[in-house]
Amino acid sequence: MKYQIPKGVFDILPEDPDPKGLWRSSHLWNFLEGKIREQARAYGFEEIRTPLFEQTELFNRTIGETSDIVSKEMYTFHDKKGRSITLRPEGTAPVMRSFIEKHLDQQRPLHKLFYLFPMFRYERSQAGRYRQHHQFGVEAIGSNSPLQDVEVINLLYSLLSKLGLKNLHLTINSLGAPKTREVYRSRLQEYLRPHLGDLSEESERRFTTNPLRILDSKDKQDREILKEAPSILDDLDPKAQEHFESVCLLLKNLEIPFTIDPMLVRGLDYYNGVVFEVTAKELGAQNALGGGGRYDGLIQSLGGPPLPAIGFGAGLERILQTMIGQQVFLPSRPSPLLYLIPLGDAATTKSFLTTETLREMGLAVDLEIRGKKLSGAMRYADAIGAKFVAVIGEEEMKSNHLTLKEMKSGDTTSLSFETLAEFLQHV
Ligand code: HAM
Repeated sequence: MKYQIPKGVFDILPEDPDPKGLWRSSHLWNFLEGKIREQARAYGFEEIRTPLFEQTELFNRTIGETSDIVSKEMYTFHDKKGRSITLRPEGTAPVMRSFIEKHLDQQRPLHKLFYLFPMFRYERSQAGRYRQHHQFGVEAIGSNSPLQDVEVINLLYSLLSKLGLKNLHLTINSLGAPKTREVYRSRLQEYLRPHLGDLSEESERRFTTNPLRILDSKDKQDREILKEAPSILDDLDPKAQEHFESVCLLLKNLEIPFTIDPMLVRGLDYYNGVVFEVTAKELGAQNALGGGGRYDGLIQSLGGPPLPAIGFGAGLERILQTMIGQQVFLPSRPSPLLYLIPLGDAATTKSFLTTETLREMGLAVDLEIRGKKLSGAMRYADAIGAKFVAVIGEEEMKSNHLTLKEMKSGDTTSLSFETLAEFLQHV
């Protein structure tokens, strides 16, 4: 039997044999994760890691029973004691569970947390949609200031800009207070009722269960009907209205271009107030690089203190794919600084000891250990992209000197074993 990777997931390798799989290269993931950590640090966000799985009920309660995620996409199973367990499909609920359980609010009044971990959703697999995807997410807990909203939005927007991405598009909306959502829900149903027969099957189903999600429909006919739909922004109470206006003004001050889209509702039930998404043209249908919003009532509804919060999640797969699509600067695969090729037993021992000493100093040095002939070893040095190569034979052992050959230029440098480390530290 030949084993295959399950559908909808992928390996992250030093180099994928498929040139289209460049985004699955581990050094690019390391590069992106490094940039993310730098950005999180600059914005004062600290890392949180939660387990891969949680009690199923946590997600049912927070994301919402009628959402796509809970109704059809969760990886749920029973453990040996019959408890219902779910692989996390998103990060907000687990972070809030931990925040409340560990009483983090008692440590300080404001918490700014970030995470970088995989999520699991049983989705129809297609470009940009995976059954295991990785998110960079942030959750800022404790402030209801519009400044907090814009800090979070800009953290994402400026990260993507710093990565060199172009054609970014920020869309924002406000879902107002929970009451507003209720009022709007009825108004939207009223508007859609006469069109019920013309809506797509999916939207017709959502009409009773989760009518706001109809606004997300990609169906052509649905979109036509929605053109005249009422706007949730007309139902905002004065407080939410003022908050939304402040956010828009701050975004303008930061010169972040954005569009207000009253149809932007997002697929998770816990949102209220400002919601947003950043998209990139290149990604096609699955074009959201990241999205999030406020969820001021969530912590209290889970039994925690009444704290406001806002956050977002951004998909690492989509960010990397867009970086490659837009040909932004990307680091190349790491390669050794020096590759040593020993000839004979005494040279092998000396080379091995030299390699280990240099490695201890933090220098990337590799050694031929397969007993290959010189030509084979040189080919390998070339394939792994070694900057310098040195052959250690009888001559080198006797003279205690070796000759480094720079692979690209062919230039050679002769030096003693004692000065090798110093040379390598300064090239
Ligand atoms: P979300 O919009 O469901 O939000 O996911 C956030 C991002 O994760 C998406 O914009 C997309 O880039 C990526 N993503 C989602 N599903 C997939 C998938 N199947 N394959 C590849 N990428 C995917 C949330 O999860 C919220 N927890 C975000 C949040 C945090 N809101 C407040 N705080």
